Amino acid sequence: MTTTTAPPLWAGLVDGLAEQGVLSEPWRAAFLAVPREVFIPEVIWRDVGDDLVPLCRCDEPAEWLRRVYGPRYVVTQVDDGCPAGPEGRGRVATSSASRPDIVALMLEAGQVEPGMRVLEIGTGTGYTAALLAERLGAHNVTTIEVDPALAARARAALATAGYGEVTVITGDGAHGYPEGAPFDRVLSTVAAPQVPYSWVAQTRPGGLVVTPWNSAYEPAGLLSLTVGSDGTATGGLVNTTISFMQLRAQRIARPAVADVVRETDIPERSHTDLHAARLCNGDDAPFAIAMEVPGCHREFESAAGDDGRWCVWFLDAGSRSWARFDYQPDADRWPVQQFGPRRLFDEVTAAYRRWDHAGRPVVTRWRFTVTPEGQRVELAPATPATSVHASDAAGFRAGPARVS
Ligand SMILES: C[S@@+](CC[C@H](N)C(=O)[O-])C[C@H]1O[C@@H](n2cnc3c(N)ncnc32)[C@H](O)[C@@H]1O
Repeated sequence: MTTTTAPPLWAGLVDGLAEQGVLSEPWRAAFLAVPREVFIPEVIWRDVGDDLVPLCRCDEPAEWLRRVYGPRYVVTQVDDGCPAGPEGRGRVATSSASRPDIVALMLEAGQVEPGMRVLEIGTGTGYTAALLAERLGAHNVTTIEVDPALAARARAALATAGYGEVTVITGDGAHGYPEGAPFDRVLSTVAAPQVPYSWVAQTRPGGLVVTPWNSAYEPAGLLSLTVGSDGTATGGLVNTTISFMQLRAQRIARPAVADVVRETDIPERSHTDLHAARLCNGDDAPFAIAMEVPGCHREFESAAGDDGRWCVWFLDAGSRSWARFDYQPDADRWPVQQFGPRRLFDEVTAAYRRWDHAGRPVVTRWRFTVTPEGQRVELAPATPATSVHASDAAGFRAGPARVS
């Protein structure tokens, strides 16, 4: 490893994470030892309106450093390397150095200890692989990146920083790396709505598979699965505040309203006494809805002006179905429109009512099982510890922040 003195901005941030209990001492030391700026490309991307705009270190060195050593994620690639917006602007972040506190959360959730061999999915900049290498020794770390240019850059950065023995594979992380198995941990830094069985098969019994998970309806979080001696893995969400970009082959379509709704559509109209906040707020009801209403994405829209009106769209681009709930203050029934082969509002409210009828199970009661046949998600029996919930605040609240 390269010996560096961490810049004061970074040292302060890392110490702050340690004081909050987010970062244990061994990881704090690794965060301070790994030279973060070696891993961040000269050009990063910042949000400007709906676009991502390049920021070059050569033009704005102080701003570049402030972002690299700051608390937010740093977007390092857009649109799979081919900016899709006008004038070189990007539309969608496709690689990033994740937020430092989220990296810490994932490493801690992985319960990584010296002596272990770890497979990371989603090399990105190589920064997380370097942290793992700092603690475990580079020869114990394998990382896979689907994008050849990113993999090459990460490989070079790892070598520059003194972690050249990390195995960087260019390929689809969904297949894992059977040549290196078994691993003690598979840590994914890219979300897997359906956890690939290869990750389970390549983890030794008793080992962990830790991955961000997300869904079209928006509930998202960090999933931790323990691999059993029967070759299956079980577990659940250990955090519900993070949301990551997905494995390339599992990207969730999040259509804009204009992609699904046409002016010529003639919707069915009705009214509901179920406030849409109940369908959207918190983690518990939305998670149950996400399980039962696949492919449904929601979009909040506030009305122009300040009269307290807003609406929620429920969208499924695949079947070109949509529904719209219109909120008006001081009403106890609200108009609903539905169009297309799916009656999305009916589906969502039916799922909500089943969740309500089941005693409003909290999100941590859902157990994930991954077998060679695929992924199952089921409700575990209630225990006193899992029967408390707090979900139904009035008003609308957006889903988890995108942090990867
Ligand atoms: C949030 S970034 C990972 C950040 C990274 N751990 C770091 O420290 O910079 C997610 C990465 O996963 C990669 N990715 C997406 N799909 C993948 C796949 N199927 N296999 C391997 N990598 C994938 C993306 O190209 C992106 O670089």
